[in-house]
Amino acid sequence: MRLAPLLLPLLTTSCFGCGDPGGHIDDRDHPKLKAFPSQFLWGTATASYQIEGGLHGSDWYQWESTPSNVTNAHADDGDHSYDLFDADSEAAQSIGNNTMRLGIDWSRLFPTAASFPQSPDPAAVKHYHDVFASLKKRGLQPMVTLYHWALPIWLQDLTKLTETSGWLDDGMPNKFALFAAWAGKEYGGEVDLWCTLNEPVVNLAAGYFNGVHPPRRSFGDPGGVDMAVQRAMNAARNMVLAHGKSYEALHSSDTVDSDGDGQGAEVGIAFNMPSFQAYKSDDPALQKQHDDATRRLRYISNQAFQDAVTKGNLDYDLDEKLDGPKDKIGDPSLKDHIDWMGLNYYSIVQVATLGKSSVGPITGLPRTGHLDTDHPKTEYSWDVYPEGLRESLDALRPYGKPIYITENGLADSTDAQRPRYLADHLYVLQKAIADGIDVRGYYYWSLIDNFEWQAGYCPRFGLFAIDYQDPKRTRIARPSAKSVYQKIIAEKGVDPSLFKQFPSYPEPTLNCPGGG
Ligand code: NOJ
Repeated sequence: MRLAPLLLPLLTTSCFGCGDPGGHIDDRDHPKLKAFPSQFLWGTATASYQIEGGLHGSDWYQWESTPSNVTNAHADDGDHSYDLFDADSEAAQSIGNNTMRLGIDWSRLFPTAASFPQSPDPAAVKHYHDVFASLKKRGLQPMVTLYHWALPIWLQDLTKLTETSGWLDDGMPNKFALFAAWAGKEYGGEVDLWCTLNEPVVNLAAGYFNGVHPPRRSFGDPGGVDMAVQRAMNAARNMVLAHGKSYEALHSSDTVDSDGDGQGAEVGIAFNMPSFQAYKSDDPALQKQHDDATRRLRYISNQAFQDAVTKGNLDYDLDEKLDGPKDKIGDPSLKDHIDWMGLNYYSIVQVATLGKSSVGPITGLPRTGHLDTDHPKTEYSWDVYPEGLRESLDALRPYGKPIYITENGLADSTDAQRPRYLADHLYVLQKAIADGIDVRGYYYWSLIDNFEWQAGYCPRFGLFAIDYQDPKRTRIARPSAKSVYQKIIAEKGVDPSLFKQFPSYPEPTLNCPGGG
């Protein structure tokens, strides 16, 4: 059993047929379902820092330039999408996509504090116009992420961290709203779907608790867990407020309906919502602690932020009660400040306590990980658990907002598991839609192999492979991109024959460190 660092797998954010990996599945187990809606959005997702290269004004560039932080990997050596964006659009079009989730990078657009928000870099502004034109030419509607974990150095300089760097700065909500307002005004004619924040809770856990992402704060710092929790709560509140303000800013600045549905800006967040499962113990007292910790983590990850931007209920101290001095109930600057909810679903997070009692907002200081379940594992050690996608959809359903699957995918360099993974998850999704859950689109993570943060280039999530020795970085379709994803898109549904064709999840032969 391997134990991942505390909260780390919140980074991951994920059997269907795996109880039966031996190949006994047939179409009777998977009746043909009603087709996906014809206006359904089919796409892939990427993030600026993970594919563009050349983002030297970003805190992540500082981070990866420190050898111990990343598995010897540099985003500059990666996909070169800054130059090859048209090849990305072409790849997406070639598999029948009609949308693409991608980022615009704050540090590229505003390289210095002095440039913000009046004087963006003209070449950068034009670059993203060119990207959107390339998407349009190929029939791909953009969904644009404003914050996918990279901040300009002028907002967070890792060499000079202070208690007001980055998201700890109470001025961040206003600054982020200014960025959103600028983006809405500049690109509103090309973009309707805006994603303000990507996986805020993962970002907070990784950056403020586990110290595996900038700003490298952790519970091991002076001040221990209490200080780490305090910082994480402050950063979380600033992210929530930043979303609320940027929601308003985008609605004011982007009133142009660019996708023909009668609305201008449509604003959401990509939430990471794993399936939380308690570690099993024979000792009832310990089991209760595991269960409590699981419930608490599920609340923090899968409910607290979501409640804030829909109900206006901000649980600052994350104690599941709205009675703290900094908590807010029905706050009008947050309530109903989301048009759609994005779901990033990958895997299970198993939770166990370390046997301590209560630490900060988290009962029993949990450890989390992809522990000893009997589900198939991917090359990144994540459990394959498609049913969890339905659990997370069921958790989002009561909010009554349209849902997009903003990420779902797996690391699979040989494409051995991906066919079945796609079929299983899209089958679950199709069933959820047939059961009345309002899901409007699906974005597979990722279009191309890319820079997987602290894990570098080992995990290969792409529908298209990249050979990093190839100077041209040709986008090479993996078989499942065409034979499964494109087929499902073309047929508007998962043909049950796919389960016969891909009856199981072969054992991975590669094990990328850092995932489980
Ligand atoms: C979550 C993140 O949004 C993305 O940046 C990451 O690469 C994938 N999931 C896979 O870990």
